[in-house]
Amino acid sequence: MLAGAALLISLLSTILCSVSVAAISSDDGSYELSNGNCTAPEPRDLVHMEHVQKVAIPFVTREERVTWYGDEKIYCVLVTSCNGETHSKVKLLRGGAGHTFVDLEVHSSRGYGFAYNVRIFGKE
Ligand SMILES: *[C@@H]1O[C@H](CO)[C@@H](O)[C@H](O)[C@H]1NC(C)=O
Repeated sequence: MLAGAALLISLLSTILCSVSVAAISSDDGSYELSNGNCTAPEPRDLVHMEHVQKVAIPFVTREERVTWYGDEKIYCVLVTSCNGETHSKVKLLRGGAGHTFVDLEVHSSRGYGFAYNVRIFGKE
């Protein structure tokens, strides 16, 4: 029952998340990330999409690493917050726009969780 509710919440937040419009200042180490030319990414160029979520645990820092390797050359990486929570940071570690791979990390402040949508746009 609890697992079902958690799944439903996760599904809902994925849906809510994917409709959020990208208007992020391009920066790394910010709570959201926009890397490359994300002014008008084409939906058909979406090569990877992933929802990353961690619940808050008191006094604990939550982390998640996202890595993607593909054949397409990336021109835009968008990591958007699902809930506007600003107590986490997204950092581009390697790759991104101009590469065929990306390696990034999300980490929260102590006692906070996060919910992000990661979208990667690329072309052959
Ligand atoms: C970014 O992409 C848009 C849409 O494809 C294009 O019109 C624009 O010229 C690009 N900007 C840069 C700086 O490459």
